[in-house]
Amino acid sequence: MIREIVIYPDKRLKEISKPVENFDEELHTLLDDMYETMIAKNGVGLAAIQVGVPLRVLIINVPVETESEDPREQQPKENTLEVINPVILEAEGKTRYQEGCLSVPGYFEEVERHKAVRIEYQDRYGKKYIIDDDDFLAIALQHEMDHLDGKVFVEKLSLLKRKKFEKEWKKRLKNK
Ligand code: CO
Repeated sequence: MIREIVIYPDKRLKEISKPVENFDEELHTLLDDMYETMIAKNGVGLAAIQVGVPLRVLIINVPVETESEDPREQQPKENTLEVINPVILEAEGKTRYQEGCLSVPGYFEEVERHKAVRIEYQDRYGKKYIIDDDDFLAIALQHEMDHLDGKVFVEKLSLLKRKKFEKEWKKRLKNK
């Protein structure tokens, strides 16, 4: 089921999400719905709070190269990285990348992140894993993990860019 996306500056995006304790059917439905919602909105990642659920859950699905224009072939469900209760164990270096967010649709801007991260997390059954990445996935993980702590990427902009963004965003919301 496609769920409604919480749009910036909705206060829910400021919530600190709580750890998942029950790896049950409700969690699996949430994860399945998050995939459907992300695909419907052409996103590559989504945190649970973006569909209004304050749990430490996120998904990432990096598109694969294909001739197909079907989003389900570009981002097959089985490629979805489901990340529950993630913790950064190590972070190294710095990089900048142009980010976007389904809660700030249509806005893209460069922000600074760690280049490489090592993250411990659980899957939908509660099994623990460690993931290492120093590429796009590392950026996406940091972006989505920020959501779990009530942070949106626009808050990482320089003061000047932030002011410009807030002004444009207010205008855009008013015109909707
Ligand atoms: Co986001």
